Order: sequence, then C-alpha cells, then structure tokens
Amino acid sequence: MAGDAARETIAGSVNAPLHVGIIMDGNGRWATARSMPRTSGHQEGLEAAKRVVRAAADAGVRYLSLFAFSTENWNRTADEVKFLMGLVTGYLRKEYPFYQEVGVRVVHSGNVKRLPRAVQRELSAVMKDTQQFDRIVVNLALNYGGRDEIVRAVNRLLADRQKSSTEQPRVTEAGLRKHLDLPQIPDPDLIIRTGGEQRLSNFLLWECAYAELYFSDKLWPDWDRDDLLQAVRDYGCRKRNFGGVR
Ligand code: FPP
Repeated sequence: MAGDAARETIAGSVNAPLHVGIIMDGNGRWATARSMPRTSGHQEGLEAAKRVVRAAADAGVRYLSLFAFSTENWNRTADEVKFLMGLVTGYLRKEYPFYQEVGVRVVHSGNVKRLPRAVQRELSAVMKDTQQFDRIVVNLALNYGGRDEIVRAVNRLLADRQKSSTEQPRVTEAGLRKHLDLPQIPDPDLIIRTGGEQRLSNFLLWECAYAELYFSDKLWPDWDRDDLLQAVRDYGCRKRNFGGVR
C-alpha cells in the first residue's frame, strides 16, 4: 500500500506526517552496555536506519531526514569520525538493492564542501543512482548543522544579489527559504529523538518551526518498525494550530 491510503490506515488519521526527521541517538551507549566499541553501535545504527526507512515508506511517510553526522561531531575521536565517514563510503552505494526494493531516493543536506572527497563522491553517486525512485526521499543530514545551514543560505542569497544589477527588495522568509539546502522538501511535521535526551541539537532549526516533537528512551540501534509506527500513530493524535486558533 502506498501514499495517502497507507498514511490513513497506519496512523489512523489522514494527518499522518509527510516529513519525519530523526535524531538517531544512543549508538555509543548501546555498544558500551555490551562491552563493545562505540563504532559497533554505529554499525548497528545503520541496520536500525534500514528497518526504520522501510517502516516509514510503508506508513506513507514521503520524506525522512536522518541526522547522521553533525557539524559538531568532528569533535569526536579521529577513529570514530573515520568510522562514520567509512560507513558512508563503504556502505552507502552497496545498499542499492535496498533502495531499489523499497523505492528510496537519497538526497543530502549539510555542508558538502567540508566533507572528505571520497564521501562527496559517494554521496553524489548515490543521489544520481537513486533519482528515479519515488516512494520515499531519504535526506542524509551529513556534516549538517541548523545554524550552519542558515548562514550558508544567507551567503547564497547575498551572492545572488551581488550578481543582479536591479535594486533588491527586503529579504523575506520565502526569499531566504529558497536558499536553504533542500527548499523543495516540505518542513518536517514530526521530529523524533531516540536515546532519552530531549533536545534538538542544531537539527533542522529553520525547518522545525512548527514540528511536533517525539522523544523515546530506546537507544537507536534497538529501534524497529513498531517504534516508528508508534511515533506515527502518536503524531496522528496531535492537534496542530500553527499559531492560530483550533
Ligand atoms: C548518535 O549516537 C549517533 C551518531 C552521531 C551517528 C548516527 C549514525 C548512524 C545511526 C549510522 C547510520 C548512518 C547512515 C549513513 C544512515 P551517539 O554516538 O551520540 O550515542 P551516545 O549518546 O550513546 O554516545
């Protein structure tokens, strides 16, 4: 089942989320609790991401943003950073059969120019390889920071203005939005954070203005299909006012 019908059935409401963002927290603690290196938690986190992408597609979610590496994550040990970058270069393209089966189009948000060349190449190849799939768009937020995205958007807007000789009107929200990383993707309806913490950690700051928030104590590698469906159902019961009156 796909599209609106699936959203209605699984969430019990036509108000199921079109765009879900996930802060996949708890990989390190999951591994440490098992006396394993933190990197094993990230490896398991990748498996959880695949389970959740499949569940989201089945629930009719059209856009899924996964916070895979933040602009602050460079402060981790060199080994952990290398491992996370290696997950992208080593596994991203190899998952092609998964993208094909589920219908996943991969896109990226974040500061691409500051990523290692090999990661840039891998991202651009996987985006090209999957551009024909249209069941769910998975946005990999990699070297992503909400403040960094807004600053880059402002600089792009200024650069565009410098190119133009005509007098420019004042900057508007819509005008700035056009310069964000993925202006064609609707704002997230629902942001999920796993692992027991309750904060946004610089994720999609502009786009989250009216997102509903859902926090789960479960560590990310333990997340499965039912956890995603539970979050979607919970969202289906929320009343959204967008600052107006219900
Ligand atoms: C946060 O947990 C997790 C990350 C910084 C990395 C997220 C990456 C994955 C889930 C791998 C999936 C990768 C792709 C490309 C989809 P943490 O390490 O901060 O955990 P802790 O709070 O327990 O230390």
